[in-house]
Amino acid sequence: MKKIILLGYMGCGKSTIAKKLSKSIQVPFVDLDEMIEKKLNLSVNAIFEKHGEIYFRKIEHEVFADLMQSTEEMVIGLGGGTPCYANNHEFFKGENVFSIYLKASIETLFQRLHQNKSKRPLIASKNEEEMREFIAKHLFDRSFYYNQAQYKIVVDEKSIEQTVSEVIALLA
Ligand code: S3P
Repeated sequence: MKKIILLGYMGCGKSTIAKKLSKSIQVPFVDLDEMIEKKLNLSVNAIFEKHGEIYFRKIEHEVFADLMQSTEEMVIGLGGGTPCYANNHEFFKGENVFSIYLKASIETLFQRLHQNKSKRPLIASKNEEEMREFIAKHLFDRSFYYNQAQYKIVVDEKSIEQTVSEVIALLA
């Protein structure tokens, strides 16, 4: 059955867009970070703190691989780093898979993330200047993996509804 995967950097709107999309097309939504939190009964922050990032990436891969193997139809919102580890990007091109990169500029990401960073262990302790530089470098490093998606939608200056309509048009 069909899997719709939304991917992109932290703050690009994956979860928000995925939830709206799921409602409009009536396909259940699964948030990968939430699945990981449920599996370990810990927040993403706590997993990073207690077990470290490498452990998080291992569990992230297991949970994602399980979802991709299930026969259920679903909209999956990935974590910002999911495509970049453990060959997770290889799931982007399977049969009945629609992988969509929600592409946002450094400025858009900075504006969205700097007010809302506490739940994100990779940026929680950075000041504004450090964060801008971190996003720029990190996005550059990750773009290769994000660009493995089958489709790309630029989200800068678009409303949630506009982006959702674009995704629906891609799926048609
Ligand atoms: C991460 C992004 C987060 C979460 C974790 C690591 C990343 O997800 O998976 O904090 O490496 O970019 P969101 O993109 O949903 O914030």
